[in-house]
Amino acid sequence: MTPILSSPSCWLSSLKASNFRCYDALNIQCHNHSPVILTGPNGAGKTNILEAISLLAPGRGFRKCKLSQFTRYQNQGMPWAIHATLRLPDGSIALSTGLDLTAEKERRVVKINGAPQAQTALPEWFRIIWQTPQSDCLFLEGMSVRRKFLDTLITQINPTYSKHLTRYDHALKERSHLLKEGSYDPNWMKVLEETLAQEAVVIVTTRKEFIAELNIYGLNNVTHFPKFSLATHGYVEDFLENNPALWVEDKIQEMLFANRADDTLKGGSKIGPNQSEIRVINLDYDYPAEVCSTGEQKALLLSLMLANCRLQSVVCGVAPILLLDEVVAHLDHQRQAHLFEEILALNAQAWLTGTHTNVFEPLRGRGYFLTVDHAVLKEG
Ligand SMILES: Nc1ncnc2c1ncn2[C@@H]1O[C@H](COP(=O)(O)OP(=O)(O)OP(=O)(O)O)[C@@H](O)[C@H]1O
Ligand SMILES: [Mg+2]
Repeated sequence: MTPILSSPSCWLSSLKASNFRCYDALNIQCHNHSPVILTGPNGAGKTNILEAISLLAPGRGFRKCKLSQFTRYQNQGMPWAIHATLRLPDGSIALSTGLDLTAEKERRVVKINGAPQAQTALPEWFRIIWQTPQSDCLFLEGMSVRRKFLDTLITQINPTYSKHLTRYDHALKERSHLLKEGSYDPNWMKVLEETLAQEAVVIVTTRKEFIAELNIYGLNNVTHFPKFSLATHGYVEDFLENNPALWVEDKIQEMLFANRADDTLKGGSKIGPNQSEIRVINLDYDYPAEVCSTGEQKALLLSLMLANCRLQSVVCGVAPILLLDEVVAHLDHQRQAHLFEEILALNAQAWLTGTHTNVFEPLRGRGYFLTVDHAVLKEG
């Protein structure tokens, strides 16, 4: 049985954003790590607040937008900026990020306690996990959406993983381009295929290791959310089952060479992590996720998120910050209550949004309620 963990929390005691989306100057002060409940009409500015927090993790935020899109329409000449105070069990740190207007290419700067740092330094201090309405389609869309979902979860704990994804992606694009053109330097093609083989092994191995860890929480789940098992299937996965990594790299390279004609016709590559099938089984019913009802799929997604939260609490030593955009409204009352209890038990500072306050009433007295309307925030 997985114990219900209550790792020490890390939480934002202050969040300020300027010239960001609909906010000229956003300022939220929290006095403890209780859940923050943001409610208000459509277009009020709730998701923008969560998006600002998601920029305290590496990447382009949870909507994965171009950095310039965060700049307030009404004030395009000024850079957007986010400042936050993060409370950790042994003190607090000042975090800031914003658009660097002096850079030739779009980039953002990250500062920790005033000193510039790489974005990848952020998860060394704390983790952020999010679930957005976009994740709702996870089990209905094609495999590429599931691969992306899984890769995002892994990148949240292991930011260097994204370098392997990028290297694989670039090599694959270049190989496809050269194959299409029909004339290429065979030595360069060999280098590209070597890179693809090496990165394929790293990516699939990392995915398998992450899945194995997450499944411990999925299989032994003691919450009211479904037990699950996650798996990745494909040639590379099969090869890695019984063979050393170096052998698998050679095998992939051999297959890439043999598949050149096929890959020229179809584009991409017939073998590799870009072809992996990610399967999720709801163990409460022994059904694959795709045949579960809409409500069951949502519960399964929350189960994955809660399991990941527990895993991160153990890996990082502190509970992550949770961003839950519109996840509550479509759950039945019992599941809503269970989710709130889980969040409180995890000790994680959760930022929840919804259009109506009534669904969050069970958190009254245990959470910080803010109403948002036309980018204006009021307590209560
Ligand atoms: N760069 C920008 N500059 C100014 N306003 C923006 C910018 N980007 C988005 N907005 C506006 O911010 C407003 C709030 O958006 P947000 O997504 O936060 O709403 P929401 O409260 O989450 O609404 P919903 O309940 O519909 O999800 C929208 O009206 C949107 O058009
Ligand atoms: Mg929203």
